[in-house]
Amino acid sequence: MAPRTSGFSRRNFLGGLIGAAAVSSLPASVRSLPASVRMFAGLPEAHNVFVPYQFPKDFQWGVATAAYQVEGAWNADGKGESIWDRFSHTVGKVKGGDTGDVACDSYHRYKEDIEIAKKLNVKSYRLSVSWPRIQADGKGKPNPKGLDYYKRVTDSLHQANIRPLVTLYHWDLPQALQDAGGWPNRAMVGRFTDYSEIVTRALEDRVSNWCIFNEPWVFTFLGYGRGVHAPATKDFAATMRATHVVNIAQGQAFRAIKAVNPKFRVGTAFSMSNCEPATLSAEDQAAAERAHAIGNIWFVNPALKAEYPKAFARENPYDLMGVKPGDMELCRAPLDYLGINYYRRQLVSATPTSPEEAALGAHNLDATEGPLTDFGWEVWPDSFYELLMRITREYNKPVLEITENGCSYQDVPDVHGQVPDQRRIEFMRGYLSALGRSMKGGADVRGYHHWSLLDNFEWAEGYAQRFGLTYVDVRDQRRIIKDSGHWYGKVASSGTLA
Ligand code: NOJ
Repeated sequence: MAPRTSGFSRRNFLGGLIGAAAVSSLPASVRSLPASVRMFAGLPEAHNVFVPYQFPKDFQWGVATAAYQVEGAWNADGKGESIWDRFSHTVGKVKGGDTGDVACDSYHRYKEDIEIAKKLNVKSYRLSVSWPRIQADGKGKPNPKGLDYYKRVTDSLHQANIRPLVTLYHWDLPQALQDAGGWPNRAMVGRFTDYSEIVTRALEDRVSNWCIFNEPWVFTFLGYGRGVHAPATKDFAATMRATHVVNIAQGQAFRAIKAVNPKFRVGTAFSMSNCEPATLSAEDQAAAERAHAIGNIWFVNPALKAEYPKAFARENPYDLMGVKPGDMELCRAPLDYLGINYYRRQLVSATPTSPEEAALGAHNLDATEGPLTDFGWEVWPDSFYELLMRITREYNKPVLEITENGCSYQDVPDVHGQVPDQRRIEFMRGYLSALGRSMKGGADVRGYHHWSLLDNFEWAEGYAQRFGLTYVDVRDQRRIIKDSGHWYGKVASSGTLA
């Protein structure tokens, strides 16, 4: 069947959405580029095509959540303080002074959430374990009440016939471990390995799909380097050390989890963006490759190949990172699947604007050729296809799970109490079609988890960004499945994208 255009071109997707206002909001660095260059080497707008697809019967349709973003109950039942508690309780760190103290109150309302997931016909539910619920200060004996909570949640998921996919670390580090140096401190390897063993052993009968880390690039670079996430330090050397410690911890945790049960399926959720050169110049093309190396595969290659990709304009700074002889073998871990969190592409130029960028020799520009979500992120499904094909080619068809994909729009209930969010439906049609095309092209993708089941605490943005398939009223915790949720439920039950 000939591809139909999906409505994702700038002209016909939501017509006037990206008009003069959006263009004038372009960063100056982008505005100064001619339009043909901004379009990534003049690719035709119709490049984002819609192709129908029938997903395989056993495809894992899912939704994703994370502990700090939904649970609330920040100090209940012996839970310790996390770096995100500290960050959000610090004036000026989170938009609007929002905190995760209550969030979606899923600590108490998880049954209702799972009911919603059931209504959406999903087969897989990605959640994360809050480390300070299990070990208040990050070490020692586990807190039985914390473990019991996750036993109750996973029991409820099984009753609903939904697979739990459990992330061990989605950014809420016990504050006590940060006080001891946090991820740049090598002692974290032992701490994290012990914790991973405790959780996987305690939930062994209930969970067999594990995700070690969520987005290691984000929590190291944004937390330790740029200071916009917890623990809000701005130290490039510490960031690079943290990345190495995280890579060793990934390898060691992988072995600890497999020692609990070799049948466990273990991977990590990596944040990835297709990195495209801002112009056709050789310099920008080389910069885009370095951006891919640091942003997409810096935590993949150590695991799969026991080496770092070439990410720096000069030599990779192994001394700065504290790499010791034998370390790379510790990083090695034959992950059972690569989890991919995909939101948007990056345009990359070779002109740095900060010391960090100077070291890396790459500057990322937000692409704005396609329509923008209410978060200002560009919708460009074709880049998802490109990224999946690249990973498929370069790692010899690895097993993939889409651990996150989604968009933020501000839609609220109408007078009938429904939430018409057509833009999210269009977003999903586009990205699921790109996913289908990649599977036709040979990508071995086993599941897709939409971010997110619920509108929730969006980190430094607080509750200002809404990513949910379900609307949540932060005042009374009322939940309403959005039109996109109903739409997704139909796709999940039939596997048909038409
Ligand atoms: C990825 C993160 O894993 C998740 O926590 C976050 O809410 C989404 N991106 C949206 O920004």
